[in-house]
Amino acid sequence: MEEDKLRIAIINPDKCKPKKCKQECKKTCPVNKAGKNCIEVLPTSVICFISETLCIGCGLCVKKCPFEAIKIINLPKGLSQEVTHRYGANTFKLHRLPTPRPGEVLGLVGTNGIGKSTALKILAGNLQPNLGNYESAPAWKDILKFFRGSELQNYFTKLLENNLKALIKVQYVDSISKDPKIGKVIVGKRLAAIDKKGILPEVIEALDLGSILEREVQHLSGGELQRFVIGLTSIQQADIYMFDEPSSYLDVKQRLKAAKMIRSLLAADNYVIAVEHDLSILDYLSDFICVLYGNPGAYGVVTMPYSVREGINIFLAGFIPTENMRFRDDELTFKVVENDADKEKAAKEEEEKKVAKPTNWRYPEMTKTMGAFKISVQPGQF
Ligand SMILES: Nc1ncnc2c1ncn2[C@@H]1O[C@H](COP(=O)(O)OP(=O)(O)OP(=O)(O)O)[C@@H](O)[C@H]1O
Ligand code: SF4
Ligand code: SF4
Ligand SMILES: [Mg+2]
Repeated sequence: MEEDKLRIAIINPDKCKPKKCKQECKKTCPVNKAGKNCIEVLPTSVICFISETLCIGCGLCVKKCPFEAIKIINLPKGLSQEVTHRYGANTFKLHRLPTPRPGEVLGLVGTNGIGKSTALKILAGNLQPNLGNYESAPAWKDILKFFRGSELQNYFTKLLENNLKALIKVQYVDSISKDPKIGKVIVGKRLAAIDKKGILPEVIEALDLGSILEREVQHLSGGELQRFVIGLTSIQQADIYMFDEPSSYLDVKQRLKAAKMIRSLLAADNYVIAVEHDLSILDYLSDFICVLYGNPGAYGVVTMPYSVREGINIFLAGFIPTENMRFRDDELTFKVVENDADKEKAAKEEEEKKVAKPTNWRYPEMTKTMGAFKISVQPGQF
């Protein structure tokens, strides 16, 4: 396909239901009408297939599909040689990769579904990048050739040849407590058992784990679980530490303490990478930043590394000056309250908003006891 006509077709597997529709996509496609197999689907298919080389981007199938299962998206120019990974036909496509540097914390920021966790899995060696060739995945020697001359070649060579140990603090910590093998584990015992670095007291202190050491993992709250899993990752010896959204479920103070813990892992010869949505924590955590932009669920592009200030400003502005690329129509701005008069006005507006909402929920006085934990709730309404 010519570079200026590069486009991708994404089919949402949860929405495409060939058994329940009349295959309107295929029937309406002008390329199919001209006798070519641009859209392939039968009433018995699990999902439809769209050929991105034959598609002319008319968008008719997008409008006709009763389940809104199709997205046809024009890609920015210059990305065709930079595909890092594609999960399969008509699925998400990741371009480029962030480049970790030893002795520095790399921060990743980008909207949901843009490829941050995918990039982490590739950099951890858990997902072998297929360079877009999902039908016949390239071998590592070809992948290294692809990254030849870049810092990534060194990184992957070290990862493979020196057998670097990478640990990821996974994004969805709830999945851990639901795992039957881990659910019954006692927090303090597990941490002590893997404390090869001898830093258990520091980890307990840094992550406020003291009150939950006797608790089973399955009984931890979201924030407790997050702090336990950050502790579990930090206490182990590794060459590459990755933290996928460490701030979720944590309050401001806990976020900062967790960020301090993560930064304390840094050594001259190891790598620390964090995906973070909270920009103030990202600012504190990172030494440099890569921004991910694109179309959520369809494609993602990783920018070159920027200083923390530049990276955050690029993410907020939705514009990359070095690539002359606008990736969001609107700039993200924050309402800054300058003086007392502004503060009063903002408080009044908030109060008016509250009053305007009808109160429709009342709750009685109650108490709940769970082991050593007890909560007493006064009656109220919201
Ligand atoms: N195994 C897979 N097969 C097909 N698509 C996948 C697979 N894993 C992830 N995806 C898709 O790839 C896209 C990027 O996912 P990824 O988890 O990397 O995004 P993210 O930036 O981490 O998002 P979030 O901020 O929501 O965590 C998503 O649309 C996701 O549904
Ligand atoms: S894309 Fe839409 S119209 Fe086409 S097979 Fe799937 S559900 Fe049916
Ligand atoms: S956008 Fe592509 S696949 Fe869809 S109808 Fe047009 S040519 Fe066919
Ligand atoms: Mg993610």
